[in-house]
Amino acid sequence: MGSSSLLALWFCVTVTSAFLAASDNNTNSTSRPSEISIGALFTFNSYIGRAARLAIELAVHDVNTNSSILANTTLKLQVQDTNCSGFLGTIEALQLMEKQVVSIIGPQSSGIAHVISHAVNELHVPLLTFAATDPTLSSLQCPYLIRTTQSDYFQMNGIADLISNYGWREAIAIFVDDDYGRGGITALDDALATKRSKISYKAAFPPHADATMIKDVLVQINLMESRVYVVHVNPDSGLTIFSLAKSLGMMGSGYVWIASDWLASVLDSTYPPNFDTMNLIQGVIVFRQHTADSDLKRAFVTRWSQMVRSGNASSNLNTYALYAYDSVWLLAHAIDQFLLEGETFSFSDDPRLHDANGSSLHLTSLKYFDGGEQLRKKLLLTNFTGVTGQVQFDSEGNLIHPAYEILNIVGTGLRTLGFWSNYSGFSVVVPEVLYGESLNASTSNQLLYNAIWPGEITTKPRGWVFPNNGKPIRIGVPYRASYKEFISKDSSPDGVQGYCIDVFKAAINLLPYPVPYSFILFGDGIKNPNYNDLMEKVYENYFDAAVGDISIVTNRTRIVDFTQPYIESGLVIVAPVKERSSSPWAFLKPFSVQMWFSFSTMFFSHRENTVSTLGRFVLIIWLFVVLIINSSYTASLTSILTVQQLSSGIHGLDSLISSSDPIGYQVGSFAKNYMMEELNIAESRLVSLNNPKAYERALELGPKNGGVAAIVDEFAYVELFMSTNCKYRPVGQEFTKNGWGFAFPRDSPLAIDLSTAILTLSENGDLQRIHDKWLQHAGCSSQENEIDANRLSLRSFWGLFLICGLACLVALIVFFMRIFCQYRRYSTQDEDAKLEPERSLKRPPRLTSIKDLISFVDKKEEDVKNSIRQKLSHKQRQSGRIFNEQSTPPA
Ligand SMILES: *[C@@H]1O[C@H](CO)[C@@H](O)[C@H](O)[C@H]1NC(C)=O
Ligand SMILES: *[C@@H]1O[C@H](CO)[C@@H](O)[C@H](O)[C@H]1NC(C)=O
Ligand SMILES: *[C@@H]1O[C@H](CO)[C@@H](O)[C@H](O)[C@H]1NC(C)=O
Ligand SMILES: *[C@@H]1O[C@H](CO)[C@@H](O)[C@H](O)[C@H]1NC(C)=O
Ligand SMILES: *[C@@H]1O[C@H](CO)[C@@H](O)[C@H](O)[C@H]1NC(C)=O
Ligand SMILES: *[C@@H]1O[C@H](CO)[C@@H](O)[C@H](O)[C@H]1NC(C)=O
Ligand SMILES: *[C@@H]1O[C@H](CO)[C@@H](O)[C@H](O)[C@H]1NC(C)=O
Ligand SMILES: *[C@@H]1O[C@H](CO)[C@@H](O)[C@H](O)[C@H]1NC(C)=O
Ligand SMILES: *[C@@H]1O[C@H](CO)[C@@H](O)[C@H](O)[C@H]1NC(C)=O
Repeated sequence: MGSSSLLALWFCVTVTSAFLAASDNNTNSTSRPSEISIGALFTFNSYIGRAARLAIELAVHDVNTNSSILANTTLKLQVQDTNCSGFLGTIEALQLMEKQVVSIIGPQSSGIAHVISHAVNELHVPLLTFAATDPTLSSLQCPYLIRTTQSDYFQMNGIADLISNYGWREAIAIFVDDDYGRGGITALDDALATKRSKISYKAAFPPHADATMIKDVLVQINLMESRVYVVHVNPDSGLTIFSLAKSLGMMGSGYVWIASDWLASVLDSTYPPNFDTMNLIQGVIVFRQHTADSDLKRAFVTRWSQMVRSGNASSNLNTYALYAYDSVWLLAHAIDQFLLEGETFSFSDDPRLHDANGSSLHLTSLKYFDGGEQLRKKLLLTNFTGVTGQVQFDSEGNLIHPAYEILNIVGTGLRTLGFWSNYSGFSVVVPEVLYGESLNASTSNQLLYNAIWPGEITTKPRGWVFPNNGKPIRIGVPYRASYKEFISKDSSPDGVQGYCIDVFKAAINLLPYPVPYSFILFGDGIKNPNYNDLMEKVYENYFDAAVGDISIVTNRTRIVDFTQPYIESGLVIVAPVKERSSSPWAFLKPFSVQMWFSFSTMFFSHRENTVSTLGRFVLIIWLFVVLIINSSYTASLTSILTVQQLSSGIHGLDSLISSSDPIGYQVGSFAKNYMMEELNIAESRLVSLNNPKAYERALELGPKNGGVAAIVDEFAYVELFMSTNCKYRPVGQEFTKNGWGFAFPRDSPLAIDLSTAILTLSENGDLQRIHDKWLQHAGCSSQENEIDANRLSLRSFWGLFLICGLACLVALIVFFMRIFCQYRRYSTQDEDAKLEPERSLKRPPRLTSIKDLISFVDKKEEDVKNSIRQKLSHKQRQSGRIFNEQSTPPA
């Protein structure tokens, strides 16, 4: 029937039963209606419509010629062309309902589906949409709209999985601004959010946008950071985007293009593949609804290709045509069931629809389908195997087993990278084999073949670029006035140096791509800059990033991203410790008088008995050593058992808050805000301190003399401060444990990569090396060293042991010298006396003298003295005799 006569019918109102195709005989299947009208609504001149039209016609033909389904009943197809217009589509849907069709195959467009869903909900005419994929067309809102294809909800989840699978955090959505485009991209946004990724920009254009409009959008997104584009547009205008993108150089390396199934429909529909078209879209990733392979499908495909060859088909087969074909079969099965139960097709007037006087819209011709509710139920319960596989609906009215093929455009063909299904995620095997398996077994299959990306590169694109292409990123560096080891100005080519700069450079060098950067000082160098202000600059994109000892910034979570902490740092309280005797020498003081007395007694005592004097001397020294060690240990034990006294009286956070003494903080540090806001310390108590010297002075003066009782600062600074000032130490626990890092604008992909690089640095020990280079100092660098210094050990008493040893040595030397002198005197006389017998024995004289010496030492002093005295007198006598002998001539 021609469209002109249909239009004439539309205006010819009173003929309400003209197309009452369904019989209203109230008997059972024995007298079925001979003809049942069904409608079809789509755009003839579209990629989907061309194929769908043929598929629907084939399906109606197949049903009508099949004796096992709807025998003795013919399906009569009424087709309407929506011609890509929501307005015409809506009117034509009403026209179809006026013709009292029992159901409509279509509409193709999600927009029309939204509008007429209200009408069909009232008139109870089920719609079988084989191409309206908008996820917001839910079965709850539109119960009479049955989607016989996959919802884009699943496709967008697949795309989101793909994006997060490749490690991209952001994507730009390019979509047509209608129900189909918006619904799909909203679903993508939601799906990405669950993967902690996001759509960084939604580039929408109207359905009939011209080339300039699309070009403007493309130029705009090309200036953005993300290089991952998801294209969700209509098949009939989508290729324009790629040709414009190609002309803008956006199809080269570094770009990622992901197209939803519209592109697959276009490519499937055109045969043979157009070389120019394929050339435009090299490296694009395409999603396509997956339909299970089966004999039925293969036979259908063969039949279709024969028709194409004989010129009976104007389009190649695409997936939507398969769904359209199955939709007709689904309807046939449902009608069969409907009739089997003895239901009839009858229509009645809707009392709410009446012809308003003076209106030529004859709305009364719209009839209410009495059996609509029953037919809808039958449709949702139908279970059969069609060319798309098993056709069955789940409890939410969606087709079961949503699955997609992931294709890569290479050369003139489509290469399958793998599959995505709602059930098993990614796999390189068809999802059908995985449905029965447990998910654990399928996780090992979660991979895809390698893609060839735009620009014919095989390595996965990074997915983002620095927004101001090519120009070095501007990094704000705090121009510190104190603690310059962390970061400070210098005359090197970078203009800055320090611990943080070295960490940053080491981390940047680990990144797999080059990052050009330049450092820009922030602050005047006289006073430490406020880091919140610095963060604000990063937020305002005045800086692309900020490097430095950027500690906890109160506003940080709101405005910027930080790298993972590379230094754990919290606030600590520093207070002076009471000066304690650092060496046990002090213990000598009280004993010195006594010692002096003993020494003098020793040296000025009678010389009678030297050995016992020396023994006493050594003993006295030993007694003192024991006394001192004993006293030291007692004192040490006492000091351990009693609370370590701090001169400031601040023992931790509680005493800090409760006291009213002034507290110091570092200029620009967040410690001030923290103390005021979190600890409720009055601002009047807080004293800003500029540098370590000021710290020292303030602590030295103390709270009474205009100084401070304690300082609250981050541990990293305190560590450095204490390395040169042993008089102060942290008290209590570290609080507000938190990290340091580099700041980046929110969601900057560089922050993630740099965090990974810093973790690598920390794992391979480079971080510690850089730390030691800048922040390691001699002296009492840490708390433990200080405690050690106050603890008594063997080493603490080396002086005492030295004195003791020296005393022993002196006593020994004195003893031996005495012995030696005595021996010499003794032996010279002895030798004279024993001259004769020794010669006769012929012994070596030295051996004798050593043996003699030992025996001499063995002798008691008294004996020696006596013998010397004896010998002396004997010698005198002998010398007298010799003299006599000499004087008297021999006889
Ligand atoms: C309905 O069926 C009855 C027999 O049960 C028959 O007499 C009658 O003609 C039928 N009506 C129509 C409209 O087919
Ligand atoms: C007819 O339909 C049934 C399903 O109802 C199917 O099994 C059969 O193959 C069909 N016959 C032909 C010739 O298509
Ligand atoms: C169809 O009609 C023929 C005769 O016209 C009849 O023999 C057959 O039983 C009918 N089939 C059904 C299912 O009503
Ligand atoms: C479809 O609409 C276009 C304009 O949008 C018009 O030029 C064309 O003639 C229409 N085709 C049909 C078959 O109505
Ligand atoms: C193509 O159409 C012609 C007539 O329109 C018909 O004779 C022929 O059988 C058809 N070919 C196929 C493969 O359906
Ligand atoms: C039609 O058949 C069904 C069973 O298939 C039966 O329940 C119903 O009563 C029958 N209706 C008539 C009007 O015969
Ligand atoms: C339409 O107008 C006629 C008189 O012209 C009046 O009798 C009738 O009630 C009107 N119907 C409605 C629905 O207003
Ligand atoms: C649907 O049919 C298939 C076989 O065609 C069967 O395995 C499955 O259990 C059926 N489902 C329901 C819910 O009846
Ligand atoms: C946080 O930011 C706001 C506005 O950007 C600013 O007014 C406020 O002072 C900041 N807070 C702190 C603690 O710096």
